[in-house]
Amino acid sequence: MKKTVRVICHHEYGIPEEVASVETWDIPAIAPNQVLVEMKASPINPADINRLEGKYPIRSPLPAIAGNEGAGVIAQIGSAVSNLRVGQPVISLDRVGNWCEAYVTDAKNLIPLPDGTPLEQAAMLSVNPPTAWRMLEGFVDLKPGDWVIQNAANSGVGRAVIQIARLRGLKTVNIVRRKELIPELEAEGADIVVTDEMPLSKQIRDLTGNADAPLGLNAVGGESASEIAKSLSDHGTLVTYGAMGLQPLQMSNSLLIFKDLRFRGFWINAWYKRADTGEIQEMFDQLIPLVTSGKLEVPVEKTYPLTDAKEALVHACQNGRTGKILFVIN
Ligand SMILES: NC(=O)c1ccc[n+]([C@@H]2O[C@H](COP(=O)([O-])OP(=O)(O)OC[C@H]3O[C@@H](n4cnc5c(N)ncnc54)[C@H](OP(=O)(O)O)[C@@H]3O)[C@@H](O)[C@H]2O)c1
Repeated sequence: MKKTVRVICHHEYGIPEEVASVETWDIPAIAPNQVLVEMKASPINPADINRLEGKYPIRSPLPAIAGNEGAGVIAQIGSAVSNLRVGQPVISLDRVGNWCEAYVTDAKNLIPLPDGTPLEQAAMLSVNPPTAWRMLEGFVDLKPGDWVIQNAANSGVGRAVIQIARLRGLKTVNIVRRKELIPELEAEGADIVVTDEMPLSKQIRDLTGNADAPLGLNAVGGESASEIAKSLSDHGTLVTYGAMGLQPLQMSNSLLIFKDLRFRGFWINAWYKRADTGEIQEMFDQLIPLVTSGKLEVPVEKTYPLTDAKEALVHACQNGRTGKILFVIN
């Protein structure tokens, strides 16, 4: 058994590719309730970038191993662990420490996967699809045929929204920044895809035939969020979960007075904290078969080994990608 592993860690906060370094760390001994996971894949998410920058609401004690999700295989189990076996594929619910060759964690922080699960896709299963799932489940009682309007529709979350919504019989209006994304999102199940030329709300009203849209999902902010809000039906809900455009929300008074809209927020970390184990498992019981059957799939633009951390981070910060940037490990 290996005694040391390569990790991507940081000793300070700052520009991601400048503060991230590849180092060799000792593997701690495993306690009876713990396991050693050999990591196979882990994506670079916007939250990872924000964490390295020190702009995320959670700051780890430094030095810290980065990486807020990933998938791997159990390499060793503690004497008190009965629900996992060596060789078992798993995803990690640890929100840091995934960018490494192997790490030790409590068995309760892992979700077992069926043998043969595609681990690159599984590595992206614990943050974005649950965010999409919870936002479609947790705010509005959506019925088949209801419209959901979202921006950043080609993001990991956005694609999960499209794919899950289609399976639930919901219809989606999807806002993107680039015309070339339209055919591919339509192929994934998007009903309407529009580029973000203003005024968006008129385009959306015309394309949906002014249909009721009780839910909007906002990962951008600024004018894009206002236009989604204007397109919602009376008493509709706009859920903000990201701020990629770095612009504050600005809403006209009339949207509140005459439409009585609800403005809500969502953070998957807070949901995991308040959900019980049964609720989390129930969600994965629905999501895992979607990944194994290929019904939930996120494109990957490029994979990197851990040793190319800096290059991978520069790439992940670029706009206009065709998919996620992923570390493929071991
Ligand atoms: N609240 C939560 O619990 C939660 C959970 C997961 C993710 N998130 C957030 O959700 C967002 C998407 O995450 P992800 O992992 O799905 O992203 P991703 O796959 O890395 O994709 C990034 C997306 O952001 C778009 N984008 C980048 N800069 C933008 C700008 N200035 N204006 C408008 N759009 C811009 C990109 O569009 P182009 O392709 O055109 O560049 C792309 O659609 C992030 O803000 C992330 O932090 C939140």
